[in-house]
Amino acid sequence: MKSRFITFEGIDGAGKSSQIAATVALIASRGVTVVQTREPGGTPLGEKLRELLLHEPMHLETEAMLMFAARREHLAALIEPALAAGKWVVSDRFTDATYAYQVGGRGLDEARFAALEAWVHPHLQPDLTLVFDLDPAIAARRLAGTGAAPDRFEREQTDFFERVRAAYLRRAAADPARVKVIDASRSPQEIQREVEAIVAETCFQ
Ligand code: TYD
Repeated sequence: MKSRFITFEGIDGAGKSSQIAATVALIASRGVTVVQTREPGGTPLGEKLRELLLHEPMHLETEAMLMFAARREHLAALIEPALAAGKWVVSDRFTDATYAYQVGGRGLDEARFAALEAWVHPHLQPDLTLVFDLDPAIAARRLAGTGAAPDRFEREQTDFFERVRAAYLRRAAADPARVKVIDASRSPQEIQREVEAIVAETCFQ
């Protein structure tokens, strides 16, 4: 079976983490070797950049370039070799997150984003991207319920996450064959059934 690159996206608190674990288990149960990873991060250098990105105040363009720097390393050291070896890669976030958070949320110039995307991965896009779509007010209540200390992004207000959400939906509308929007307001079981059906239909062909 051909290698596949699957990414999970959505605003903070939309509930993608548990769905990633279930999807990775589903893929592995079919006898496929699957690598689970995340952005920013996924490599030793990327995880150091993640620490800075999540906690250190910085200029918007510094943030965007560091996201893509971590991604360049991630592609070279992990994603591309795994796909070349026929493995599947499941990543918690990828470039759609930069579009949603840096362009949508923070107002990064879209042409700058496009230039960085074309530089870092001119030919590669995920085979499938699942966007967990949820009202930011509900997501904020879920995050508050976890009791974990919020990072630099999680401390943003509802209007920021409204813009992030809208940007994800624009990205999905621009590439509906790749980007599927999941209604994340439903029960985890219902969401998991839909995710499994989409993965089966688009990836196990
Ligand atoms: P997240 O997956 O939410 O980590 P966790 O679930 O452990 O909190 O990702 C960390 C944050 O990074 C998230 O708030 C979104 C942000 N982010 C961007 O702003 N741009 C990007 O390109 C990426 C990959 C992430």
